[in-house]
Amino acid sequence: MNIPFIDLKKQNDTVREEILKSIEHIIDASSFILGKSVSDFENDFAAVHNSRYCIGLSSGTDGNHLALWSLGIKAGDEVIIPANTFIATAWGAVLCGAKPVFADCEKDSYNLDLHDVEKKISPKTKAIVAVHLYGQSADLDRLKEISDRHGIYLLEDAAQSHLAEYKGKKIGSHGVSASFSFYPGKNLGALGEGGAVTTNDQEIAEKIRMMRDHGCKQKYHHETYGHNYRMEGIQGAVLGIKLKRLQSWTDKRREAADKYRELLSNTGDIELPKEMDYAKHVYHLFVIKTSKRDGLQEYLKENSIATGLHYPVPLHLQKCFANLGYKKGDFPVTEDLADKCLSLPIFPELTDNQIEYICEKIKKFFE
Ligand SMILES: Cc1ncc(COP(=O)(O)O)c(C=O)c1O
Repeated sequence: MNIPFIDLKKQNDTVREEILKSIEHIIDASSFILGKSVSDFENDFAAVHNSRYCIGLSSGTDGNHLALWSLGIKAGDEVIIPANTFIATAWGAVLCGAKPVFADCEKDSYNLDLHDVEKKISPKTKAIVAVHLYGQSADLDRLKEISDRHGIYLLEDAAQSHLAEYKGKKIGSHGVSASFSFYPGKNLGALGEGGAVTTNDQEIAEKIRMMRDHGCKQKYHHETYGHNYRMEGIQGAVLGIKLKRLQSWTDKRREAADKYRELLSNTGDIELPKEMDYAKHVYHLFVIKTSKRDGLQEYLKENSIATGLHYPVPLHLQKCFANLGYKKGDFPVTEDLADKCLSLPIFPELTDNQIEYICEKIKKFFE
């Protein structure tokens, strides 16, 4: 059996006809940038994330940038982010000219360690960006308590966590704003690049709406600095179609995670992902931990099972951040995870048979 890490073709085939029709519609209307398909999607996406506003963008990275830029974050400011995340979380601060300051992650949730966050707050700190990593929300109430106490902003990087919940409420409006990615492999994926920011703050929404379009409300009247971060019409249409299926796709991811849990309990030294009592995980990734990671990954590859590493090099040890002066040993939990993490295939179309095969091979490896 050949098992891919993710099977986009299988998913896209289920919506192919509807998508093709909508693309024809966009071509006929020549509505290639923003337009009705994008504004309809924005309304629907805001509604499912209990947010008043959603602004469609060209990527999640752009969302991270605009979320901070719209708040006036600038050179001389510091922004606290996890060391254990994809680098795009850091680009938000870097693109504003600010300094990313890293914090370790918790052993259980792999999200921001609140004690370390407190330690990293300085007079220059302007914001904390909480990543809901792998599809599980960070501890938002406690982060909000810290950010309020220090008079700084709390933002969400929700690139991996569409429809995830914190204490029974969808993520996306717990901080000032939340940034989402619609990269094709995400839980809600476009047919190309795409992203969005959700917020309940009208002023921020208006600012981000202008900033994504060269700082204009009215063409050629530039009220603020900006960029070209607009969502394409075709992506808005595709995302609108897929959004209607997202809850059922998410349920399937959760069922797959349950099945893995059941079949892999007490296998070797594997640590299974923990679902925190405040969170409803949407399993963008199913990340296990084992000291035999490299051997297991190789063995699975020999058996035609694709896996991933999220993430093999923590941000503080990336060459591009050498100027920030971090060293190995600064973030022990993140570094341990980087050495031991292994992401198993998880996607809505993954079958029980495939999961059984994967778990059988994993058990065999540990025998
Ligand atoms: C945590 C995180 N933040 C931001 C991004 C950036 O999203 P995009 O690839 O749409 O720019 C990603 C996805 O790649 C991500 O995983």
